[in-house]
Amino acid sequence: MANTQPLKDRVAIVTGASRGIGRAIALHLASLGARVLINYSSNSALADSLAAEINSASDVRAATFQADISVPEQVKSLFDAAESTFYSEIHILVNSAGVLDPKYPSLAGTDVHDFDKTIAINTRGAFLCCKEAANRIKRGGGGRIICLSTSVVASLKPGYVAYAASKAAVEAMVKILAKELKGTGITANAVAPGAVATDMFFAGKSEEAIEKAVAECPFGRLGETDDVAPVVGFLATDAGQWVNGQIIRVNGGSAI
Ligand SMILES: NC(=O)c1ccc[n+]([C@@H]2O[C@H](COP(=O)([O-])OP(=O)(O)OC[C@H]3O[C@@H](n4cnc5c(N)ncnc54)[C@H](OP(=O)(O)O)[C@@H]3O)[C@@H](O)[C@H]2O)c1
Repeated sequence: MANTQPLKDRVAIVTGASRGIGRAIALHLASLGARVLINYSSNSALADSLAAEINSASDVRAATFQADISVPEQVKSLFDAAESTFYSEIHILVNSAGVLDPKYPSLAGTDVHDFDKTIAINTRGAFLCCKEAANRIKRGGGGRIICLSTSVVASLKPGYVAYAASKAAVEAMVKILAKELKGTGITANAVAPGAVATDMFFAGKSEEAIEKAVAECPFGRLGETDDVAPVVGFLATDAGQWVNGQIIRVNGGSAI
């Protein structure tokens, strides 16, 4: 019989889980049996409602924690909170928190402050979360590090210079980390979606830009957060253990 709770007794941290893709991932990992620490930056009400939704369906298996992933002390506190809340080692990190400049500037028009913010959250944040995870995730099987990247690293669309550069660095880090974690049983991968209907995708986009993204997809629609979450879920389970050091582009086959 199929095991419907392959992540039972495992502890997962999902950053940026108050909204969008991170939220769907947290829900999905919980549905697979994981206990989930829901990280957010400012939207405590949304994070709390997600925890309540998960906890109403079962025993208390979700909690929330505010932390800016670009700040080392706050990332450390996030991991401390996961251990102390669930009285357990941590098994899974999913780093979904991220930002995109909704002005879609050319390189020449990119404001230095916006560039720095993108790198601070998307690259430094991923680095800090991966560093903490590499030092603290349980050894000996079931350990997982999964970062969200983007298919824009492959499509290299104009208007996405800082964002694509910030995530290209994440893809490089994940591939090296997978090798450095030799012998720990911990895998490190990145999931790189195409256009997904979230606040981040719609921010600053014209109707024309949205229609273009739909037209580029062989399925003739935008991705949904639930198109991405099961891929992360698979990587998180034991069934995904042979996938390591990979970048999985999850975009419905969009022309990238
Ligand atoms: N949507 C897409 O089309 C798409 C495509 C490819 C890749 N991605 C990637 O997928 C990930 C999720 O994107 P999304 O579309 O779900 O974004 P989103 O809807 O804008 O949600 C962003 C999440 O990140 C959190 N966050 C932002 N800055 C943070 C910080 N410094 N520390 C901690 N949390 C922070 C937000 O928390 P608050 O709610 O508290 O603000 C929110 O939960 C990102 O890494 C993104 O680059 C998205």
